[in-house]
Amino acid sequence: MLNTALKIKNITIPNRIMMPPMARELSDEGKVSDALIEYYAKRAEGTGLIIVEHEYVSPEGIASPKQLSMADDSVIDGFRKLTDAIHSKGSFAIAQLNHAGIESISHNKLNLNEMTLDEIDHVKESFVKAAVRSKKAGFDGVEIHAAHGYFLSQFYSPYTNKRTDDYGGTLENRIRLHNEIIADVREAVGEDYVIAIRFGAYDYLEGGSKLEDIPIAVESFVKSGADLIDISGGLCRYVNPNSKEPGYFRQLSKIAKDSCDVPVILTGGVKKAKDAENLLNEGFCDLIGIGRALLMDAEWSKKALKYLENVQ
Ligand SMILES: Cc1cc2nc3c(=O)[nH]c(=O)nc-3n(C[C@H](O)[C@H](O)[C@H](O)COP(=O)(O)O)c2cc1C
Repeated sequence: MLNTALKIKNITIPNRIMMPPMARELSDEGKVSDALIEYYAKRAEGTGLIIVEHEYVSPEGIASPKQLSMADDSVIDGFRKLTDAIHSKGSFAIAQLNHAGIESISHNKLNLNEMTLDEIDHVKESFVKAAVRSKKAGFDGVEIHAAHGYFLSQFYSPYTNKRTDDYGGTLENRIRLHNEIIADVREAVGEDYVIAIRFGAYDYLEGGSKLEDIPIAVESFVKSGADLIDISGGLCRYVNPNSKEPGYFRQLSKIAKDSCDVPVILTGGVKKAKDAENLLNEGFCDLIGIGRALLMDAEWSKKALKYLENVQ
């Protein structure tokens, strides 16, 4: 299963291994550095899809000092070199777009509960412009970061979202901004372009997001134009406080998979090819994210495919 191709919209990725976004803090004032190109090129071989680490969509949404930027046109040429390097190894590349909200290190960081509608519109526009730049830079798609306690994750969670207008309160309101961003990005990038959403589906926190809301949220994202659902944690970030087992968000990805007909990614705690293969075979996901294991061993994907070839 790990070595079977998967068609997502207009691209066919060669296998089910996905390298999830992992911030490396190696940018050159927001631009792609040679060190980053080398890092990704080394890991692209054998990896079906790379979702490149998060890039801030506007200066007030920057998450860390050396984060990559997609906030103006000057970054496009550098990203073109990066996507060329990834493509030359037979892999595909998606750009992860992020706004850190209150988690930003900017002096102008935004508190979702105090934002005006104009400020919300500005963030929406920033995502759209960043998506257009990603397409110009040769990325095969974009991923809207809506996990790990960042801006959209804060909107989703009733724990953090205390707004009393159309963007707060009911589930429909708490995912309104996600859906508006997906729809606006779709309009800007056209039909033949992959839009993924990294959905922080659950907080594992009293007063936080609810399991029964996942199917409704996922269905609405797909209806708005998402082609790929990438499951992770919400306010708990990328770890499950209750489990360290391989595929520790499997309960969440299974719910997502049962509620939509686009591919679903599961990431978290997978280190062995056999575990990846089992999670795919057991129907928890369509793609498996291999993060820290690929960080530690650039040849993880090649080795995993070879191992499975030998045992099959
Ligand atoms: C150093 C590091 C940086 C990360 N940066 C991001 C990021 O930019 N965007 C994101 O969505 N997740 C980020 N993550 C979370 C990973 O994508 C992944 O979900 C997490 O590492 C769990 O998967 P694993 O057990 O295979 O490593 C990061 C994780 C690590 C370890």
